[in-house]
Amino acid sequence: MATTEIPDGIVILDFGGQYCHLIARRIREMHVYSEILPSDATPEHIETLKSVMNLKGIIFSGSPSSVKAKDALKFNSEILEIGVPVLGLCYGLQLLAHMNGAKLEKAQEYGITKVYIDEPIGVLEGLNPYEYVWMSHGDTVFNVPQGWKRVAHTDRSPVAAMVQPEKKIWGVQWHPEVIHTEHGKEMISNFIFKVCKAEPNWRPLDKIDEAVKKITNIVGDRHAIIALSGGVDSSVAGALAARALGKNLTAVHVDHGFMRRNESNEVYEAFKTRNLKLVVVDAKNRFLRRLKDVTDPEEKRKIIGEEFIRVFEEKAREYKADFLIQGTIYPDRIESGITKNSDTIKTHHNVGGLPDIMDFKEVIDPLEDLYKDEVRELGKRLDLPKEIISRQPFPGPGLAVRIIGEVTEEKLDVLRLADAIVVEEIENNEISNDLWQYFAVLTNTKSTGVKGDERAYGYTVAVRVVESVDAMTANFSFVPWEVLERISNRIGNEIPKVTRIVYDITHKPPSTIEWE
Ligand code: XMP
Repeated sequence: MATTEIPDGIVILDFGGQYCHLIARRIREMHVYSEILPSDATPEHIETLKSVMNLKGIIFSGSPSSVKAKDALKFNSEILEIGVPVLGLCYGLQLLAHMNGAKLEKAQEYGITKVYIDEPIGVLEGLNPYEYVWMSHGDTVFNVPQGWKRVAHTDRSPVAAMVQPEKKIWGVQWHPEVIHTEHGKEMISNFIFKVCKAEPNWRPLDKIDEAVKKITNIVGDRHAIIALSGGVDSSVAGALAARALGKNLTAVHVDHGFMRRNESNEVYEAFKTRNLKLVVVDAKNRFLRRLKDVTDPEEKRKIIGEEFIRVFEEKAREYKADFLIQGTIYPDRIESGITKNSDTIKTHHNVGGLPDIMDFKEVIDPLEDLYKDEVRELGKRLDLPKEIISRQPFPGPGLAVRIIGEVTEEKLDVLRLADAIVVEEIENNEISNDLWQYFAVLTNTKSTGVKGDERAYGYTVAVRVVESVDAMTANFSFVPWEVLERISNRIGNEIPKVTRIVYDITHKPPSTIEWE
């Protein structure tokens, strides 16, 4: 696709369902653009997207609530007059049924469920007489509204899928976007290509030219600055900005002293040969001083965030930057207020996300439409090293929120080494691909051990390894025993101050991924 062509796209209305992002990602993987809008978006609202997509269809997401609840979320009915096909998933189906006068009763289905395909047409084209799909609902549709046709049912759901053929409005009770739905991809593909007639003409890689042009147009021959934490997002944004601005960009990497082993070095190595000014600020002492005697996790976060801004402000003034470039990605943007229906579990203060109090003419977010895996794709194309592209998510306050209690230089040294061992063993054993994060935590429990023939009293290190899709929920990973044993042996042998190593076997919820 030439960069000037506008790709076909699908809008997803977000009713707060946990799989909303997954729907968007599945569609984008099929090279059709998609954007998530709030459930009450109007046709005018959708019209504003016409510079980024040709609207081909609309999907209603699931929701944690019931359509019969007093404050149930509805959609603006004028949406149906736009004339593009619509697909309601789970709550989306129930809403369409309820609005059209169908009977809904409580009848739960949860997990992998056998569904009978009554008519393999449209969204269900090419499917078997029965399919295994992922269900997660409390209300069930009991009859088909007038003008609609039932196309699938289950033993407990008399209407598991239905269609209004003239208007091409579809509803399915299950979640095709979840991998447990055997032919889920085919169902989504049927909707976007066969029902909506979209063309697969969107590529995240087109973003390179587009972003470079955008940055150049805005900044011209003035000066911009970027906070380069070394995470995937800021690194990719930095590489794009370097391509656009060259010497008119200053990248500032603030080493607060809470980085993992060798991290600041890797950032320096990855960027030193690029055509940009890179400043590494060694601010370890000032951060550590400010954290003296501080034990409360939120207070730690606040202090680190404030101190970061102070350092960054000093540098922005020094380099007379008019513009700030950031690595905000699409899920960050969604979570910070574009949609409002999903539950917020914990507010993160990302020290890389700088607030309005700073005096810039404009803030530029070249990655604001992309998901993490799409950003990684761009990173590869921009020749960023593997260590940076495959980097795990890492909290802005770094190791400071993985040390329970007061942060000291001694504890940082112990944790940095323990963390490096966990990372090395997981990666050497080639099990990192399916993992979201793997790291060490330094607990504030001391315990008795034997080192050599002597009694020792030392630190307890916890090992945390989780699998996740979007960090909203996570499962501890079934890491092979042999790998855990190697991690334990190495930490015990290589770090004299550690006398006990434990494995964290809690999912999220009830725990968060990080310990603080
Ligand atoms: P939790 O611990 O809330 O973390 O389950 C979810 C994801 O967010 C990362 N995380 C942070 N990222 N600043 C950040 O930039 C923070 O303060 C922060 N706290 C947690 C965490 O690593 C996980 O991937």
